[in-house]
Amino acid sequence: MKKLLIMLTATILVLTVATIVVAVTTGPEEIKYTPKMGTVTFNHSAHQNQADCVTCHHTGDYAQCKSCHGVDPKAPKAKNAYHQSCKECHKEGGKGPTKCKECHIK
Ligand code: HEC
Ligand code: HEC
Ligand code: HEC
Ligand code: HEC
Repeated sequence: MKKLLIMLTATILVLTVATIVVAVTTGPEEIKYTPKMGTVTFNHSAHQNQADCVTCHHTGDYAQCKSCHGVDPKAPKAKNAYHQSCKECHKEGGKGPTKCKECHIK
């Protein structure tokens, strides 16, 4: 019985550690969006040096933006959310593309 308990505890511990490792994953290196307007290539890892995670992942989780934007009526439409998030920072910092065809490449 005691042995079983120790084994159970050990298993739970391993599972907990695994969950923590998954929780801090930094996500994909690069993300490509392919709207009709033209492909947008987002270098996610380079952008991780530009701001804290929660600047972009503003809800503190790492769910896809479209899991709320375009679904939750309180959230702005996906297109507007991306444009605001991306362009605002590029404008403010004076770095990064702000013109349509600098982001949307055909
Ligand atoms: C400049 C903005 C920005 C920063 C900073 C940023 N991310 Fe992201 N991240 C994004 C965008 C945009 C996506 C794509 C999500 C989408 O389009 O639904 C993404 C995707 C992800 C995903 C994949 C989500 C999924 O389910 O596909 C994870 C995980 C993630 N980011 C973690 C992080 C972590 C951890 C940090 C900080 C070390 C970070 N991100 C910093 C913008 C950012
Ligand atoms: C869990 C749901 C959820 C996720 C995931 C989410 N958002 Fe949002 N977002 C919201 C809601 C709700 C609002 C409106 C209320 C608010 O401002 O918090 C919002 C507002 C915004 C705004 C407008 C903020 C302002 O100041 O008016 C931007 C820009 C934005 N989100 C971008 C993003 C981007 C980019 C992602 C993905 C990296 C993302 N959101 C992921 C729910 C979400
Ligand atoms: C918190 C600020 C911030 C946010 C948010 C942000 N960027 Fe940027 N981005 C930058 C900066 C700063 C640069 C310039 C980096 C350099 O020149 O060293 C840049 C450069 C770029 C570039 C050109 C260089 C490259 O990486 O290919 C593209 C394309 C780009 N961003 C796309 C996006 C997209 C798409 C989003 C939204 C999903 C986004 N960015 C959100 C700060 C930001
Ligand atoms: C900083 C990069 C950036 C700039 C600048 C930018 N966009 Fe976007 N745009 C995006 C991203 C990222 C998406 C989200 C793509 C997706 O959801 O597949 C998007 C989505 C769109 C969509 C929606 C496509 C769809 O199928 O839902 C349209 C239309 C669009 N952009 C037009 C424009 C126009 C017009 C301009 C210039 C006034 C512009 N964009 C400037 C990054 C940018």
